[in-house]
Amino acid sequence: MEKLTSALLAWYDRCARDLPWRGFHDAYRTWVSEAMLQQTRVETVLSYYDRFLTRFPSLSSLAEAPEEDVLKAWEGLGYYSRARNLWKGARQVMDEYNGTLPRDPEKLKKIQGIGPYTAGAIASIAYDVPIPAVDGNVIRVLSRIYGIRTDALEPATRKRIESLAAALVPSERPGDHNQAVMDLGATVCVPGTPDCARCPLSFFCDAFKAGDAADLPVLPKAKAQKVIPYNLLIIRSGDRVLMRQRTERLLQGLWVFPMFEGESGPQELLPFAGKKLRLSLSPMRDAGSARHVFTHQIWLMHIYETDAEASASAPAGYEFIPVSKLKDLTLPAAMNAAVNLLMPEA
Ligand code: ADE
Repeated sequence: MEKLTSALLAWYDRCARDLPWRGFHDAYRTWVSEAMLQQTRVETVLSYYDRFLTRFPSLSSLAEAPEEDVLKAWEGLGYYSRARNLWKGARQVMDEYNGTLPRDPEKLKKIQGIGPYTAGAIASIAYDVPIPAVDGNVIRVLSRIYGIRTDALEPATRKRIESLAAALVPSERPGDHNQAVMDLGATVCVPGTPDCARCPLSFFCDAFKAGDAADLPVLPKAKAQKVIPYNLLIIRSGDRVLMRQRTERLLQGLWVFPMFEGESGPQELLPFAGKKLRLSLSPMRDAGSARHVFTHQIWLMHIYETDAEASASAPAGYEFIPVSKLKDLTLPAAMNAAVNLLMPEA
């Protein structure tokens, strides 16, 4: 195990990715980076991370900001509950720990939005606590090295991976070790097509010897995403457009255009939407379609444009927003196609 760990650290010293959250021992910065990196590619996070830290340079500045501002800084990154949890967690750290994240992983886990993975990442990277941070990369790398061929999401297998991960973390440079596994998983020991010829650990790897690295880890087949058809309406009233702030769990707090589930065409849609929204609407103009893929569902949106009277008032739950103010709201990426129709220059 020691040989494996030193081979991995030697590789990291040569090949580590140069990422803006590295080279600091600052738990707040680690927290922000790890929250952004969950479910999101490094390349995507790169365009948000520095901007977010410029806007919220310290944990206290984040805690003191309005929730809306935090969502706005997260706009386009997806999984917005991460942003809300980060903000709530920062307020909790102000209240309970005077603004400094604790180093004890058990205390970290009690903070809003911090689970076992993030607690491990913060404690090891920012505070040099020798504990693992088990994410998908670690599961893949360890399943291959140790030839784990049972369902990786089964609790027993998961436990085994966690104890192997814990045994591997060295007492020196635990944060570098954990990030080395992440880098290896992201650049060499990738899903489907591992580049074993470039791997510093192939000598230690059971799956490499057995020739089945590409097939590991063993994961249950993902359920197909549910495809939901929607009609999305761009309803203008003078220089305003009708919007709604979502209260549903998915995209909670973000602003969307009125959307109605179903595939009805413009003739049916016009009276239906007029009645639902209590607005008198002009005939619908077909403005094309857009698709957005979430983790568990896919929205297939048909976009229609229509006009309400200039003096119309918004129905309950909706607001007419001046088009010039649209950029101040937090809109999910799913709305991009419709926004581009309204503000083609943006
Ligand atoms: N993915 C999750 N955390 C990461 C980190 N600290 N560096 C690189 N990729 C990561």
